[in-house]
Amino acid sequence: MKQLYVDLGRRAYDILIERGILKAAGQYMRPLLQGRKVAIVTDEIVEPFYGAAVIASLEEAGFQTKLIVLPPGEGSKTISMLETIYDALMDFDITRADTVMALGGGVIGDLAGFAAATILRGVAFVQIPTTLLAQVDSSVGGKVAVDLKAGKNLAGAFYQPKLVLIDPNCLDTLPSRVLADGMAEVIKYGAVFDEPMLRLLEQAGGLAGLRPHMEELLYRCCDWKRSVVVEDEQDQGSRMLLNFGHTLGHAYEVAYHYETYPHGQAVSAGMCKIARMQQQAGMLSSQEVQRFQNLVRLYELPTEIPCTMESYVHAILKDKKGRGDKITLILLEQLGKGVLAPMATADLVRWLQETELQEKQSKERPQEEAV
Ligand code: NAD
Ligand code: GLY
Repeated sequence: MKQLYVDLGRRAYDILIERGILKAAGQYMRPLLQGRKVAIVTDEIVEPFYGAAVIASLEEAGFQTKLIVLPPGEGSKTISMLETIYDALMDFDITRADTVMALGGGVIGDLAGFAAATILRGVAFVQIPTTLLAQVDSSVGGKVAVDLKAGKNLAGAFYQPKLVLIDPNCLDTLPSRVLADGMAEVIKYGAVFDEPMLRLLEQAGGLAGLRPHMEELLYRCCDWKRSVVVEDEQDQGSRMLLNFGHTLGHAYEVAYHYETYPHGQAVSAGMCKIARMQQQAGMLSSQEVQRFQNLVRLYELPTEIPCTMESYVHAILKDKKGRGDKITLILLEQLGKGVLAPMATADLVRWLQETELQEKQSKERPQEEAV
């Protein structure tokens, strides 16, 4: 078993990574939790795969359980679904000694976490993430939220779990599109912190070659996440490095109404766009940018998504990490080393315009020459 300790003092917790650990959930949770009740929040796709095994393990460890099964997908991350969870928790007569567990992807983790943070002013929370994105990113670090009409993740909290149990076997039932989506975050960790991990991903040759390396990758990603969360729990400094590619990625998500491009595809294109902007400004070599884009393609993710300047500007101005006329962009000093780059939003818009123009000209040039 691989183990990490997120050292946040009184809010510290372990991340345990092992194939099959889901079937031993009760055994790992029992010593950490006071109460006897665990409410398991999950979705209609995940529950048939893993619900029974988790319940059996919890009951064997002496817990009383209740399943709360929600429709899958981002559409469930709403205040009204939160109310459904609150009602189910009240029906279960949950007390402040009891526990809410998230069994699912990032949607379930964010939603169940927000319910755990707020019901009775906070009960214990355990994460069993079942998508790659949730295993390497959203289950660690305590960001919990629901979406509002005005945008994603706008009502939320920092609320750390008591335990994160990561079972790499869960990835075996994941549709390949969802797996590829999570790979965007893995590639992001490599780009920002860990050049050797980029090499490992290149050597694996794509999704099919990854299985033997999965535990190692999960461990390394969680370790990077652990280190930034411990250093900057409230997202005021180094944790922002995790946002590499996300500002422009958000522009693509919004421009296509969250329908055409899932989060990971949008982030991939966002990372590649920033890399090309840096190449245009002489900050990254063409070899580095080509290498990075080849890796993104290897994992079935896009390097470009068509987008208007209006959509870019809208996303930049709306960026949660922005402060009005300033924004903290994440750039790469080199592959494997991200840096925070505070800049005026007007400068970022100008830089994007210049890169757009240059990319348009270089796409037109060969055709002109052929005429
Ligand atoms: P998701 O939770 O919607 O899961 C994707 C799909 O996979 C769903 O249909 C789900 O039912 C299915 N699924 C989950 N596990 C499965 C399994 N093992 N086998 C088969 N199917 C399975 O999406 P996601 O990509 O995991 O998470 C996206 C969410 O995470 C977004 O809401 C995003 O805002 C949030 N997020 C949060 C943080 C954070 O720090 N809290 C970080 C990144 C993303
Ligand atoms: N996923 C970004 C963060 O946890 O800060």
